[in-house]
Amino acid sequence: MKYLIKTFGCQMNQHDSEFIASMLRSLRGEAVSDLDAADIVVVNTCSVRETAENKIIGFIDSLKRRKRSNPDLIIAVVGCMVSKREQIDRLLEKRKHIDIILGTRSLYRLPYFLERREAEKGPFVEFDLDDDIPEGRNHIREESYRAYLTIMYGCDNFCSYCIVPYVRGREKSRSKQDILNEAKALVNDGVKEITLLGQNVNSYGKGLAEASSFADLLYALNEIEGLERIRYMTSHPKDFNSEIIAAIAACKKVCRHFHLPFQAGSDRILKAMNRHYQRDYYLDLMAAIKKDFPDSVLTTDIIVGFPGEEERDFEDTLDILNRVRFDNAYTFLYSRRSGTPAADHQNQVADEIKRERLQRLLQLQSDISLAKNQAMIGKTYTLLGEGRSKNNPQMQSGRTDGNKLVHFSADEDFRGEMVDVIIEEAHSWSLNGRIK
Ligand code: 5AD
Ligand code: SF4
Repeated sequence: MKYLIKTFGCQMNQHDSEFIASMLRSLRGEAVSDLDAADIVVVNTCSVRETAENKIIGFIDSLKRRKRSNPDLIIAVVGCMVSKREQIDRLLEKRKHIDIILGTRSLYRLPYFLERREAEKGPFVEFDLDDDIPEGRNHIREESYRAYLTIMYGCDNFCSYCIVPYVRGREKSRSKQDILNEAKALVNDGVKEITLLGQNVNSYGKGLAEASSFADLLYALNEIEGLERIRYMTSHPKDFNSEIIAAIAACKKVCRHFHLPFQAGSDRILKAMNRHYQRDYYLDLMAAIKKDFPDSVLTTDIIVGFPGEEERDFEDTLDILNRVRFDNAYTFLYSRRSGTPAADHQNQVADEIKRERLQRLLQLQSDISLAKNQAMIGKTYTLLGEGRSKNNPQMQSGRTDGNKLVHFSADEDFRGEMVDVIIEEAHSWSLNGRIK
């Protein structure tokens, strides 16, 4: 059985796709990259913005032709776009070529439905959000030296623009012991960097029988011998408390990279977004981080054109950029997600205004990113090597503790190795260096 997994969306999805691959491999499946060679295609979907959804629908529709020429081809659509009844009905209405549909919490049922598909025609649909995700999953990682590790599923925050709580369900933390066991097993297998995953990792521990917090988890993971780096995503400013800051300060393996999405700079918009903090709180938090971690890397997420955003609200967003001076910002045009409170707002912002604001934001951020990268020139940084470039094998890349991408040339392959480089050249989104 030859399989191809097409993954859209965030790190959580990439990690889910590793799980899907593990299940297919244990059924003696073999990965292929050519669609024509596949017996089964799994589309792992994202519904966070409309642009992603349109791309995914286009891809699913393009599979119709393949199914016509190969009626045995099995098509499974899984993940966020198929975790609500209405979404699934809409998708299936005109797409009879889909065989299996599995929501975010039902992925582990894929082998069961593949078996049933041999006898029955389908389509098979399962998307029960109350499903408990079973522990003890065999989870093969794509890379040998770094790995994702899920610490919690779902989200309880209900930011008013966001579809995630509806498609990934309520927050559920894994037990600390299960997480530590998995981390130790990964490190035994040669993993040097672990990225802890969750929609809101800072609220880890909520509802667990044995009390635990994100800070507790960092202290425990920091003790694992052989582990070099601990990353985590995503944080929520409202939960990023002094206990977490103290834990990071005490735990040298936790990277000094702070990704704290602020989303909008105006108090009025933050309130409408249901973010539970105001701009002064955010600015104070960033000031505290800068004071405790002077060389840290700061990044954020920003939404442009939330309903009701006026020019002065947007200027408040630019103002936060100027005050904090992030190393990088991930910027998104507000996308109306049906079923979320913000989608029903009367005063949606016109597309051309949104786009014009985004341009101004990108220009400002690109100047700041370049200036921050230029300040790294001449200094030494330790990278975790990511291997050689496909197009130019003489060039390799690696990431700093702050997650900055650095290119360098070397004869020896430093993939998965720690290596010191001196930065020689800076661009807005990457750097060049030489081995020290
Ligand atoms: N429109 C635009 N951006 C969104 N995000 C989440 N929902 C939406 C939406 N409806 C962005 C937020 C979040 C990031 C992962 O995606 O900035 O932090
Ligand atoms: Fe969405 Fe807000 Fe939860 Fe992040 S914290 S996943 S933006 S609801």
